[in-house]
Amino acid sequence: MLPIDRLDHWRRERRGLAGRSLGLVPTMGTLHDGHASLIERSVRENEVTVVSVFVNPTQFDQDADLAHYPRTLDADRRLAEKLGADYLLCPQGREIYPDGYAYKVSESSFSHKLCGAHRPGHFDGVLTVVLKLLLLTRPQRAYFGEKDFQQLELVRGMVEAFLLEVEIVACPTVREADGLAASSRNRHLTPAERELAREFPRLLSSPETPEEVVRQLEARGFVVDYVDELRARRLGAVRLGAVRLGAVRLIDNVALESVYPEKTPITPTPGENP
Ligand code: PAF
Repeated sequence: MLPIDRLDHWRRERRGLAGRSLGLVPTMGTLHDGHASLIERSVRENEVTVVSVFVNPTQFDQDADLAHYPRTLDADRRLAEKLGADYLLCPQGREIYPDGYAYKVSESSFSHKLCGAHRPGHFDGVLTVVLKLLLLTRPQRAYFGEKDFQQLELVRGMVEAFLLEVEIVACPTVREADGLAASSRNRHLTPAERELAREFPRLLSSPETPEEVVRQLEARGFVVDYVDELRARRLGAVRLGAVRLGAVRLIDNVALESVYPEKTPITPTPGENP
C-alpha cells in the first residue's frame, strides 16, 4: 500500500490507473470496525481501493471538537494495508483548501435538519470535502456508512445534483458487542459513560414514541439533541459528559420497520392474494 500526502504525487499515480475500477473510502482516520467493513467491501468490488484520511476542519463547528478529534495515522496505515487497500491518501489542509474555503457546497433544506440544526455549517464542510475527494480520485464507487445516515443522504443528493458519475454504496452500521455503533468518538468515553452509552441504541430501537425515548434518555443523564423519524428511519443524537469540555456526541439510527414491526405495511408479492 502506498501512503501519499501530496496531491501532485497522487495525480501522477491516478493517471497510471486509467481503465481500472477504483473504490474510494473517505475517512477522517482513527479507523475502526465500521471503516474496516467499508474498506473490505471496496477491496472486493474494485481493482483499486483508495482510503483517504483527512480530518476536515470545515465540518467542525467547535474548535475544541477539532482539537480533541483522535488522530492515529500509524495504526490507520497498518489496518488499511492489512485489509488490502492500495493507497492511503492523507492530503494537507492547505492543498485541499487552496481558496481558504471561500468556495463551498451548500444544500438548502435537509442539511439544516437533525444534526445540521445543532451543528451550523457542518454539512457544508462535509459536502465540500467529499466533492473535492471525488474530483481528486474519480472513483467508480464511494463507500459510506449508514450510521451517518443524514450525511449519506446528502452525499447521494449532491451526486445527483451535480451529475457526478459515481455510485454511492451504503454499508450497514457496524455495532460493538453491546449494540453501540462503532465510532471514532467512542474512545473518548470514560468507562462510566461507555456503560451508559449502550442504553442509547437500546432505547432508540424501542417501540416507544420518540418523545418517550427522549424522556427516558434524559432521565438517564443524556443531553438529547434530537430523536426524530423521517425517511423510514428513527434517528437520534445525544451528548454525554456535557458539563466538561469536549462532551462526546453520539449519533445513531435504525430502520423504522425494526422499531414498529407490527405497523410495517405488508407488500403482497405479485400474483398473491393480499
Ligand atoms: O464520515 C466521515 O468520516 C466524514 O464526514 C467524511 C465523509 C470523511 C468527510 O470528511
